[in-house]
Amino acid sequence: MKKLVLIGYMGAGKSTVGQALAKRMQVLFWDLDAYIEEKQKRSISEIFAQDGEESFRQLETKYLKELLEREEDGVLSAGGGLPLRKENRELLKKAGYTVYLLVSKETVLERLKEDGSRPLLQVADREARIEEMLRIRHPIYLEAANISIVTDGRTIEEIVEEILGNSYFGKNS
Ligand code: S3P
Repeated sequence: MKKLVLIGYMGAGKSTVGQALAKRMQVLFWDLDAYIEEKQKRSISEIFAQDGEESFRQLETKYLKELLEREEDGVLSAGGGLPLRKENRELLKKAGYTVYLLVSKETVLERLKEDGSRPLLQVADREARIEEMLRIRHPIYLEAANISIVTDGRTIEEIVEEILGNSYFGKNS
């Protein structure tokens, strides 16, 4: 295994699961959004507000490449929109192993109800926005991933165990 990448919608638990997984596997962990914020010295919301989504997407690809090129093995949690670009999906296919963390609209609404840090969810009808985005993105996430894991109602440990116990993962680690 070189890189294990977690993808999925906002609120799926990519960062939390990623951290726990990296600890278990004793490899490095990177959160791509946090990495972008650190490199750019501004928040994701500021990047969206100042430069627009397209600029953010370019930065996302640039820093994805930077992290994938690193020598060390590691777990990487990607932003929810990263697999939308074909270029990024191709990079993921080459990188190692991609896991899709599936989440329902209801869980996203509940988990992010106090959250103001996701610019794409700052809309009047959040429920409709999430539903529409999930409908468009779900097939893209499926296509990008080696395996998919349902996260609703499950603990971090259960999700980590499922990823570690996956036979495909075992063969490629
Ligand atoms: C986005 C998801 C966010 C962040 C940005 C855009 C998206 O990351 O990259 O707000 O398009 O789904 P998380 O999935 O970590 O919230």
